[in-house]
Amino acid sequence: MNLNELNRVALAMVAPGKGILAADESTGTIKKRFDAINVASTEESRRDYREMLFRSSEAMSQCISGVILYDETIWQNAKDGTPLVKIIERSGAIPGIKVDEGTQPLPNCPGELITVGLDKLAERLQKYYERGARFAKWRAVINIDQDKIPTMTAIHANAHALARYAALCQAAQIVPIVEPEVLMDGDHDIDRCYEMSQRVLNKTFQELRIQRVALEGMVLKPNMVVPGKKGPKQVSAEEVAEKTVRLLKNCVPAAVPGIAFLSGGQSDEEATAHLDAMNRIGGLPWRLTFSYGRALQAAPQKAWSGKAENVAAGQRAFIHRARMNSLATKGEWKADLEKKAA
Ligand code: 13P
Repeated sequence: MNLNELNRVALAMVAPGKGILAADESTGTIKKRFDAINVASTEESRRDYREMLFRSSEAMSQCISGVILYDETIWQNAKDGTPLVKIIERSGAIPGIKVDEGTQPLPNCPGELITVGLDKLAERLQKYYERGARFAKWRAVINIDQDKIPTMTAIHANAHALARYAALCQAAQIVPIVEPEVLMDGDHDIDRCYEMSQRVLNKTFQELRIQRVALEGMVLKPNMVVPGKKGPKQVSAEEVAEKTVRLLKNCVPAAVPGIAFLSGGQSDEEATAHLDAMNRIGGLPWRLTFSYGRALQAAPQKAWSGKAENVAAGQRAFIHRARMNSLATKGEWKADLEKKAA
């Protein structure tokens, strides 16, 4: 393992003004997104859509540090035959790859999930590296309710899998994005989200230490501290920022180069406002940026709607969201910039 090189890539992933485009929806998930815009999900439509994003050169070169790809996409070529990976590299962004194989029910823990995909991961990582991937992602999903969930069983099993994945990545000279996502579904309040996220992060870093993962060569992708979507009280961006930063300061060692949040079902503008409010706090040991899927793609998906004549409109929508989030990484976003563009 060359830790200097892993650290260099990790720092590039969280470079000021830049963040990560999570375009790694599984075939099932992208079908759901395409259903919502009445587009048939085929290998070709998925390729055309993602090619549209990756060829948005202004967004890609100025605001996007890396792209998380799904297995199908990393092997795909653009319409003109250029590998999509090359288009990403030429824009100055780093190709990455989702390597988990989704979730399965966790035995003895009704309502909870375990992420799978460790078998043969070492061989898969080697092939992805050869294709150009320099970072990877593994997402653990932690459900939360008012009472019994998450169990320590689910937290432990998922943290252990994340740490095993991260160690395998670093051995293959690939930077692991460690993503323990506490879901925002449900009707819990923000303080329960804080408590459960704290348990999850503490266990995750304990397992990372046990597996001897080098913290300088990874990126953390956590949820923000927010109330459940059906929760009793929605809160201000400042409260989300203050509680999320407090949680991270308590749980994430300063050796970690950067933290790239998931959007997790927040609206586009909320995800931007929350990131911005955190970066306004300042004085943090790690860089805070985005690794958004839905909050970067919902607008371009809608503008594109599967039609070739809408590609320019789709790219404009993507560039706008990328630019707003880029400003948020520096604490320079303002709500009226959204209105001006609309
Ligand atoms: P969202 O930003 O849509 O939550 O997706 C990010 C991601 O990669 C989830 O694993």
